[in-house]
Amino acid sequence: MLKSHSCGELSKGSVGIRVTLAGWAHRRRDHGGLIFIDLRDSEGMVQVVFNPEKSKEYHEIASQIRNEYVIRVSGEVALRPPGTENPKLATGEIEVIADSVQILNPSKTPPFYINEDTEVDENLRLKYRYLDLRRPRMKSNLYLRHRLVKFMRHFLDARGFVEVETPILIKSTPEGARDYLVPSRIHAGKFYALPQSPQQLKQLLMVAGIEKYYQIAKCFRDEDTRADRQPEFTQLDLEISFVEEEDIINLLEELFTSMVEAIKPEMRLNKPFPRLSYAEAMARYGTDKPDLRFGMEIGDLSDIASQSSFDIFSSTTSEGGKVKGICAPGCGGYTRHQLNELNELAKSLGAGGLVTIPLGTSTSSGDLDGLTIKMVRSVAAKFLTLDQIKEMAERLAAGMGDLLLIIAGENNMVDRVLGELRRQMGQRLGLAAPDSLAFAFIVDFPLLSWSKDSGRWQPMHHPFTAPRDEDMPLLDTAPEKAYGRHYDMVLNGCEIAGGSIRIHTSKLQRKLFGLLGYSEKEITQLFGHMLEAFDYGAPPHGGVAAGIDRILMLLAGEETIREVIPFPKIQSAVDLLFDAPSPVTEEQLSELHLCLREEE
Ligand code: AMO
Repeated sequence: MLKSHSCGELSKGSVGIRVTLAGWAHRRRDHGGLIFIDLRDSEGMVQVVFNPEKSKEYHEIASQIRNEYVIRVSGEVALRPPGTENPKLATGEIEVIADSVQILNPSKTPPFYINEDTEVDENLRLKYRYLDLRRPRMKSNLYLRHRLVKFMRHFLDARGFVEVETPILIKSTPEGARDYLVPSRIHAGKFYALPQSPQQLKQLLMVAGIEKYYQIAKCFRDEDTRADRQPEFTQLDLEISFVEEEDIINLLEELFTSMVEAIKPEMRLNKPFPRLSYAEAMARYGTDKPDLRFGMEIGDLSDIASQSSFDIFSSTTSEGGKVKGICAPGCGGYTRHQLNELNELAKSLGAGGLVTIPLGTSTSSGDLDGLTIKMVRSVAAKFLTLDQIKEMAERLAAGMGDLLLIIAGENNMVDRVLGELRRQMGQRLGLAAPDSLAFAFIVDFPLLSWSKDSGRWQPMHHPFTAPRDEDMPLLDTAPEKAYGRHYDMVLNGCEIAGGSIRIHTSKLQRKLFGLLGYSEKEITQLFGHMLEAFDYGAPPHGGVAAGIDRILMLLAGEETIREVIPFPKIQSAVDLLFDAPSPVTEEQLSELHLCLREEE
């Protein structure tokens, strides 16, 4: 090794020993005589001092060192003189008195500061990701990732799970998102697909008799990139034979509870994880991935609204629609401009409009007894009685100084828009404690949903999810009423895991594919391998996959999964570091039997 110690391992106990260190010059301060260099390596940082009286030659070299130069230093560890200790640095009580130094490699001036946690344009950071990853925040995210995956592997290994690698070049089958395709050189006109998840492979491993499988699996989906979505991401994928929903849900709860306690003990966790049915989550929070760190639940005001002379309310309810609302605490004093802004937001989300009812002003307090109709600055005030307003407020658990946000219209739209308003208001008002982790399971999903676009049923999760036993007859009579054996896990408003008990007979699987609109020929062509496997003694099985990037984003307190992925892609799915995707040569295309169409 070119070094005897790492910077971070030095402490008071090292005083008096000779060390050789190697790393990067994090910061250099030239105090006329003395030169101080904060030397950084992967394990920490230590101050190195160059004294011209000790060695003129090495002091001269030190004066040439700039930020991010790679250097090697030898010297003796000493206590810092009293009063010069740096409590912010783990090694802040000591320093290394250098008696030799070597520049191993100089560095250009980096395009952004590595030694300061300043805002830097993300595109620049990603183009120079190897420099960005040197910054402490990024490094700690990478290390957190390592600890998380290590914990998961250890946890599952201790419970008899076997990690099995599955191929990256597989067959294109419809699984929800668009596939990434890889053209075959050997088979002209044919393509492999990159797996959207190892779903079918892990089920085949169950047929193979591997009763407890897991994998830290790369998945590929050609879909729009968002804060919590990347074209390429990582799952903790698992599958177990002879299980029921309870077994998987309990395993997940145990895994996640012990994982947080081990790697993020400073974060607060809600135990046991609550369970909500899909219908309850939609009705109370307007989403199947609610942030349960705060209340602000949706309340149904339709019965009160139907009695009012407010046309929007009464006509909506008489046409079968709903009037529902949420309470934004302490927002009674919102200005007309702020209220307009909320109205515009609701419209942009698909609502016809938003009825805002401030209960007094933000400084109003006391119970609603003190509320008069004059205090209510709302278009609705003219058409609602004071009693109706109070009744609505009570239903939404609102008090003086709060603001009611009400939407009228078709039920699903109302829930969805209020769910999004709730999310945004919760964020704006800082209602969600950043150090708390609110896990929950969402269960009782419908098996199918109707796609207006394609005019056919589509699976709520994927086509391998089993219907509930008792709902089997509904597949023939009223498929929309059948429930699936599907469960999701959510955390702080983000879907972090999804799984199900699977279909394990070819008869039922065939029936499901038929319901989804596939012809016999398509079924055989696309899924023949699964159906055949099920005929060779496939055990009952189920599983789940958890999005590792999303979990890390939430544990690290980051806003996007790009911050916890070593080399992510930007919004337009471009890798800025490699400049990928990129053109290839005519020769490569021709080998793959491809020819590009001229861009119109
Ligand atoms: P699903 O499609 O629900 O299920 O994915 C499981 C989890 O993976 C994460 N995830 C993503 N993370 C980042 N970027 C993406 N584009 C992305 N898409 C999904 C989410 C999600 O909850 N094979 C099934 C699992 C099963 O049934 O066992 C599957 O992949 O956290």
